[in-house]
Amino acid sequence: MAEQIQPIRGMNDILPTEIGAWQYLEREVRELVTAYGYEEMRVPIVEQTALFKRSIGEFTDVVGKEMYSFESQGGESLTLRPEATAGMVRGVISNRMLRGQRHKLWCVGPMFRYETPQAGRYRQFHQLDLEAVGYAGPDVDAELIALTARLWRNLGIQRVRLQINSLGSSESRKAYRELLVSYFRGYESRLDADSRRRLEGNPLRILDSKNPEMQELVAGAPLLTDHLDQESREHFDALCAMLRDIGVPYEVNPRLVRGLDYYSRTVFEWINESSGAQNAVCSGGRYDGLIAQLGGEPTPAIGFAMGMERVVALLMQAGQVPAATKADVFIVLNGERATSMGLGLVERLRNELPRRRFEINLGGGNFKTQFRRADRSAAPLALIVGDDELARGVVGMKPLRQETGQTECPIERLAQGIEAALASLGCA
Ligand code: HAM
Repeated sequence: MAEQIQPIRGMNDILPTEIGAWQYLEREVRELVTAYGYEEMRVPIVEQTALFKRSIGEFTDVVGKEMYSFESQGGESLTLRPEATAGMVRGVISNRMLRGQRHKLWCVGPMFRYETPQAGRYRQFHQLDLEAVGYAGPDVDAELIALTARLWRNLGIQRVRLQINSLGSSESRKAYRELLVSYFRGYESRLDADSRRRLEGNPLRILDSKNPEMQELVAGAPLLTDHLDQESREHFDALCAMLRDIGVPYEVNPRLVRGLDYYSRTVFEWINESSGAQNAVCSGGRYDGLIAQLGGEPTPAIGFAMGMERVVALLMQAGQVPAATKADVFIVLNGERATSMGLGLVERLRNELPRRRFEINLGGGNFKTQFRRADRSAAPLALIVGDDELARGVVGMKPLRQETGQTECPIERLAQGIEAALASLGCA
């Protein structure tokens, strides 16, 4: 046998056995975001590398070491998108959608990061991404968070909790950054290699360190929330008041800094309480400076992205995925005439009952084999199309999950007969 080609590490196939959960999630999400007035927008998976460098930031882990970048045949540096915000914002600017207008947009699709794969962390993963462009908040911040809280409720997911923080304006963050650098410089010999590297490019990220030996130093660092500018403080207080009013419980985590550079003011994360390191299921924040930074007219905006793999895992754990019914009706064929007429018959039934799922026995097989296939199809009803029955102008009908016997239905009233039989089996 020829040597098999292996899949790429960290990139998963989503199998038919798992797709039910994905489709359920996608259905729920689409319905909910539409109800909140978000419109779908689809942007390319590949963008110019410069877009991500300028938006996410050169010193972030994502741009520094996780991008899938390559040179195109034409010599351009291109990158598989590691997240959706940069492309969505680029799309809004390139399509001249701003001009003082506001947009609530969403997209879903694969993202690519060259991370070390482990449970919940992949190199190709999927995000649901929402962006509210042209909204200064804090009302839209609260509405976005309310939407996510409702999604967990609708999906029956309970073990997630909300953390929020404010990163202040870019000016107040600059001042805080200096304070932080001088604090950590005082303990330079105790910094691990990662933190030492971050001290130059991205000192706020040291606060996010997962290294237990760094925790004491981090705990003693000055808090961003104590150094917010007046407007950001008011914005944050108003957001907290609205969340209390809506009834969404939250925790203020003053060390929540996020790993991408474009944020200002509100940031938030939904954390899965039961998982280990890869515990953020949904995260985002405000990026009031990004649109101008990418050449658009200055426009405030906020958004978030949800890791679909992580939410699917939560759905599975909670046993919240509705069982997939593969077929409504399985058609068993018996005899030569029946076999040659079977497909024509089922195509006519598909015309008459377009919402019903029919599976016809394909590839022959005796009665026993065919009933075994019928059983595996999970269909509640079998039709038996046999030469004898056809000669009498009828088709046999047999419930597969109940001990009721076989009946017959005239071919010319077969569609009505099937509907009636399915209704009596509880499949209206
Ligand atoms: P992020 O925190 O980098 O933010 O990613 C958002 C979510 O994507 C995470 O909370 C997590 O659930 C999921 N995720 C990230 N990396 C992986 C991975 N390697 N494997 C599986 N899931 C992953 C952003 O991407 C921002 N663009 C969010 C945003 C939108 N901010 C404003 N608008």
